[in-house]
Amino acid sequence: MRVAIASDHGGFGLKRELIFHLAQRGHEVHDLGPLTSDSVDYPAYAELVARQVGAREVDAGVLVCGSGIGMSIAANKVAGVRAAVVQDVEHARLAREHNDANVLCLGGRFTAAPLAADMVDAWLSTECTGERHRKRITLIADIENRTAAS
Ligand code: RB5
Repeated sequence: MRVAIASDHGGFGLKRELIFHLAQRGHEVHDLGPLTSDSVDYPAYAELVARQVGAREVDAGVLVCGSGIGMSIAANKVAGVRAAVVQDVEHARLAREHNDANVLCLGGRFTAAPLAADMVDAWLSTECTGERHRKRITLIADIENRTAAS
């Protein structure tokens, strides 16, 4: 899969570990930055990944900040993006199965690299197939369409 990934300073170390893991798994990883662990503003990096996911230039996005929360709030502002913050493997799986999350957000200050790798693997290998779940994803898109700035 084509996976775009970015972080802020709070997620920089975990991002590096995940890039290595994803590449080892055979995924095409697009590292959208930052290049150093200097302090940066997470919304800028959330937008970079979210725009690629929203435009379907990649299949999935991963965002890592200190908690994962800021990245998810920012990424969800981009049309077509369904970003979810997860802290365990079951929630990562559910984020795809029930919500078809196309961006996974992780907290670099609270998540060990092996767990993060397991969460990303679970999320990428799960599909959203249930009819009732698909219907609800459409309802989410309806909200986006009804509230879009004209
Ligand atoms: C940066 O200090 C921190 O606020 C950020 O990484 C993130 O946790 C925001 O949600």
